[in-house]
Amino acid sequence: MTVSRRDAIKLAALAAGCGAGGNALSAAPMSNDPTQPATGAANSLWGGRFGAGPSAIMQEINASIGVDKRLWRQDIQGSRAHVAMLARQGIVSAEDAAAIDKGLQQIAAEYEAGKLVENKALEDIHLHVETRLKEIIGPAAGRLHTARSRNDQVAVDFRLWVKVACGDADAALKGLITALLKRAEEHADTILPGFTHLQVAQPVTLGHHLMAYVEMLTRDRGRFADAMKRMDESPLGAAALAGTSFPIDRYMTAKALGFSGPTRNSLDSVSDRDFALEYLAATHMTGLHLSRLAEEIIIWASQPYGFITLPDAWSTGSSIMPQKRNPDAAELVRAKAGEFLAAFTRLSVVMKGLPLAYSKDMQDDKATVFAAFDDLGLCLASMTGMVETITFNKAKMRAAANSGFSTATDLADWLGRAGGVPFREAHEITGKCVKAAEAKGTDLNGLTDAELAAIDTRITSKVRDVLSVEASVASRTSFGGTAPANVRAAIAAARKTL
Ligand code: ARG
Repeated sequence: MTVSRRDAIKLAALAAGCGAGGNALSAAPMSNDPTQPATGAANSLWGGRFGAGPSAIMQEINASIGVDKRLWRQDIQGSRAHVAMLARQGIVSAEDAAAIDKGLQQIAAEYEAGKLVENKALEDIHLHVETRLKEIIGPAAGRLHTARSRNDQVAVDFRLWVKVACGDADAALKGLITALLKRAEEHADTILPGFTHLQVAQPVTLGHHLMAYVEMLTRDRGRFADAMKRMDESPLGAAALAGTSFPIDRYMTAKALGFSGPTRNSLDSVSDRDFALEYLAATHMTGLHLSRLAEEIIIWASQPYGFITLPDAWSTGSSIMPQKRNPDAAELVRAKAGEFLAAFTRLSVVMKGLPLAYSKDMQDDKATVFAAFDDLGLCLASMTGMVETITFNKAKMRAAANSGFSTATDLADWLGRAGGVPFREAHEITGKCVKAAEAKGTDLNGLTDAELAAIDTRITSKVRDVLSVEASVASRTSFGGTAPANVRAAIAAARKTL
């Protein structure tokens, strides 16, 4: 990751309100320290039974520090909860626990300042923290790993991280929904064509159209919330796979880490990543919804439509065509939907067929989730920025809504309501009216009373009440319909649940 990309992500995350104390800022700049021990010696944390260190390539494929350094906050949080519990249970002395806790706090301050020194020989974030702790407090550091394994350690770290990620997604979705509600309110009675098959179908209100996305994104929030509820159990204390003979208190660590309780089966605790998959599934669904809104922004901004104008801040130019204003951000959001599906698919395939319990395959879960997290933050921030600042060209939208005989259904409905004509017959009569208007080169309202009566005597001048696009949308007051009054009620209801 280059510095500029990292900065962009920070900015986007901040703009989306998903940076504070969250995960996006965790990728602190790292440096390689040539003073770190060279490879060749056996790993000092697990190498007791080894005579020699790993080959350079073994080390390269095995090391995950470049990725899982983003878990450092959760790793230290988990270790602090663990050692406090060990002390309370009399498993380590109060003095050792105090020294360990102080050392962990110092490491947190160092990492916060960007002083994590990456060393591939130390594999992952867990061994980095433990090794640094030993440097700071000496041999007592070795007591921290009592009644614990990296298997339950990484499971708890990653759950904590994904829980925060769900909260970040929720906050960013809420920001986008808030922007949509504001624009929907401004345009509760702005009229544009509603499409089916991308053919003009019936006039709808822009407020109603935007509120459709509020519905989708609200369900997305629900999916993140559901996922978060299910992952709200602490795997810490499952140890390697079978639990431990030490008298640990898993309820205590679960509570300290903000979980509702401990997981119930040690094998499951260390070997499932369904919580990460659920996060990716919710991300994927959100990405699909965003891609549809992005697509509409792209179509609406094109010259033949001209429904919207994107501000300079959300447009890019062409190096050859001076007139161009390209909706690149919307196009990239549209593309990222593919990335989210790929992430879900990738981790699903990693997990498929893995026997219980932990396998190293699972180490590859994090890069996938982190990348999806970064992209989701960027997508939600971009969409929020665009929705907030788009100019809606009302005249263009209204003119398009008035084209394509969009009030034909209103005429047929009117024949049924006012003239008692069965709908199928009304449909037939209206079809003849459309044909006549088309031949005359006008819209339905452009046919004279006499011309309409000549098609069917039951069509009187009163039909004018429904032939305009304004009358059409105002009449659609059925629950969930497009009438401006409905839109305002839907906005008020949505604000209450926000
Ligand atoms: N870095 C590992 C991961 O992310 C931590 C767990 C390693 N456990 C082990 N037994 N090697 O999955």
